[in-house]
Amino acid sequence: MRRPTVRMAAVSGQPLDKRHRPFRDLRISLTDKCNFRCTYCMPREVFGTDYEFLPHSSLLSFEEIERVARQAVSLGVRKLRLTGGEPLLRRNIEVLIAMLVKLRTPEGDPVELTLTTNGTLLGRKAQALKDAGLNRVTVSLDALDDARFTQLSDSGVSVSTVLDGIAKAQAVGLSPVKVNMVVRKGLNDDQILPMVEHFKGSGQILRFIEYMDVGTSNGWNLDEVVSGAEIVERIQSRFALEPVAAQYRGEVASRWRFKDGTGEVGVITSVTQPFCGDCSRMRLSPEGRLFLCLFASQGYDVRAQLRADASDEQLAAYMHGVWTGRQDRYSEIRGELTTSRERIEMSYIGG
Ligand code: GTP
Ligand code: 5AD
Ligand code: SF4
Ligand code: SF4
Repeated sequence: MRRPTVRMAAVSGQPLDKRHRPFRDLRISLTDKCNFRCTYCMPREVFGTDYEFLPHSSLLSFEEIERVARQAVSLGVRKLRLTGGEPLLRRNIEVLIAMLVKLRTPEGDPVELTLTTNGTLLGRKAQALKDAGLNRVTVSLDALDDARFTQLSDSGVSVSTVLDGIAKAQAVGLSPVKVNMVVRKGLNDDQILPMVEHFKGSGQILRFIEYMDVGTSNGWNLDEVVSGAEIVERIQSRFALEPVAAQYRGEVASRWRFKDGTGEVGVITSVTQPFCGDCSRMRLSPEGRLFLCLFASQGYDVRAQLRADASDEQLAAYMHGVWTGRQDRYSEIRGELTTSRERIEMSYIGG
């Protein structure tokens, strides 16, 4: 495999990539481990007892993560998202949060700090996360029915554990809590309306995600995708909705408000209506590789820079080079590229 190279140009201002997209969002994966085995993400046949997860010794330390995040903020990043695998499995995550909270933009403003979790440990950890300075959380939940949830997550965790975690997060002020549901035809699309009924009026924002062909282990098939348009139609058959304008350039979810004033839902249509044109995200893997696209097959080894004693300026120049060389837009050219090429797993790089 050809190793990607970057030019170490001098850093001047906030970089644009080859498609004129600014760098605004860094997603930091803290571990490739998870206590769930969602069939579309970590199927047990692949991620069973023989699977070799990364050893703790190869993970970036909190100090190293903070350094990468600090350079990212100097290059324009305004949102940091901690993800996984399951990020709450990373020990002492509150310590990292407390470090990241101190980061400031060149204008002196704090950055937004969020976390995506499966919710199992949230009830126990929400208060500590809030105290450390986390702003909000997004929780994955694919069904309300217990038997279905157990089947989809291939875990012994009950829906009530996740719902308790969501309630606790809201109670301690990690809000608004967002809830992500990946929809797969025939597997959980009958849960769309029960989920809407449950979360409507709760202050929690439910978002439906089109099932994507990330990774290579989930056997993705277009026939299993329920389009965002169809999801909205199904909700509208029961509840009147109206569209809400995007809050910021590059917002991933299209938003819909209940006309009766009881909140909103979102749909994330990366298959039927890709949003690559505004993609402002870079991803940091648990052992320190930078990936530009969720569908990338190669990363840039920033850990090697960190461990070769690169100065902050050199690190920023390296990341500047990675961003300015970028031109990917996988979701827009999905068909052309074929879906068979090598890709990283979602459990490794997060959402
Ligand atoms: P907030 O609105 O700030 O909470 O974040 P967000 O809208 O970026 O949402 P989140 O990080 O929860 O992402 C939701 C889901 O959208 C992810 O789990 C992915 O499935 C999908 N997604 C996020 N970013 C990308 C992306 O860059 N490309 C594609 N194709 N899908 C993405
Ligand atoms: N398609 C869409 N979303 C996915 N996620 C994981 N795998 C996929 C996929 N193939 C979602 C999870 C979680 C977030 C991190 O990404 O359900 O909400
Ligand atoms: Fe499921 Fe998220 Fe764990 Fe993947 S990382 S198995 S989607 S909970
Ligand atoms: Fe960005 Fe790649 Fe997702 Fe397109 S497919 S929005 S380029 S991460």
